[in-house]
Amino acid sequence: MVNDKSAGQSADSTHFGYETVSVAEKAGRVRDVFESVAPKYDLMNNLMSMGMHRLWKRFALGQTGLRPGQLALDVAGGTGDMTAGMSRQVGPKGCVFLTDINASMLAQGRRRLIDRGIIGNIAMVQVNAEKLPFKDDSFHCITIAFGLRNVTDKPAALKSMRAALKPGGRLLVLEFSKPVMDAITPLYDLYSFKILPMLGGIVADDADSYRYLAESIRMHPDQEAMLGLMNEAGLEDSRYHNLSGGIVALHIGYKY
Ligand SMILES: C[S@@+](CC[C@H](N)C(=O)[O-])C[C@H]1O[C@@H](n2cnc3c(N)ncnc32)[C@H](O)[C@@H]1O
Repeated sequence: MVNDKSAGQSADSTHFGYETVSVAEKAGRVRDVFESVAPKYDLMNNLMSMGMHRLWKRFALGQTGLRPGQLALDVAGGTGDMTAGMSRQVGPKGCVFLTDINASMLAQGRRRLIDRGIIGNIAMVQVNAEKLPFKDDSFHCITIAFGLRNVTDKPAALKSMRAALKPGGRLLVLEFSKPVMDAITPLYDLYSFKILPMLGGIVADDADSYRYLAESIRMHPDQEAMLGLMNEAGLEDSRYHNLSGGIVALHIGYKY
């Protein structure tokens, strides 16, 4: 056991935010959330994080180690922010696969990447992070940004991503985590559980999806538990960086 957030669950059940749902049901519920938020996803991301998500992603992009001509995979890549950054890093001789389980998020990503004129070295594939369809030892770097907390079987996803890494390749997991200062918790809770759903209701006409997003952040393993999951998946030299006082953490692990 690497965390205690499975309390009250059986082998056939899991959590969807604070709700206990069947394992079979969760992916569909997550899909519905992202179908609903896709058209306003980027606007809401900017509003909700007050633009901070760009800085968190920029920090993660600084850790990819990618060089021109290399291959990268963006898992649960949504509207393609990480893909866009990695596309610049690998250049015209390299390639980035933008993948997501949700066709609406990928369609939104495709439009944005075309608008930004950076589609040349990008391939898009609709896949589940738990069962990546790529050959083993394929990628120099794999990223999953704000995606893992939505995945039902996180150990399976981590193993699948590790398998797809080349020896020497690295996995970057950027995700909400646990603030290191308990003093900010009341303010953070107020923001997450009152203001976020309210913003979601006003801007995207969908308070429920944003309530789920806040709850899913709290249900995600904290920094140390996440490190345990990385080690259990066979990633080596794993470490993490706290960003914005642990509101977000970047975990990095290698395949040797
Ligand atoms: C919060 S968005 C993050 C998008 C993007 N990576 C970013 O940082 O802006 C989460 C994404 O995870 C995707 N997702 C959820 N479950 C997934 C799964 N099992 N496999 C692949 N993608 C999944 C959703 O469709 C959604 O696009």
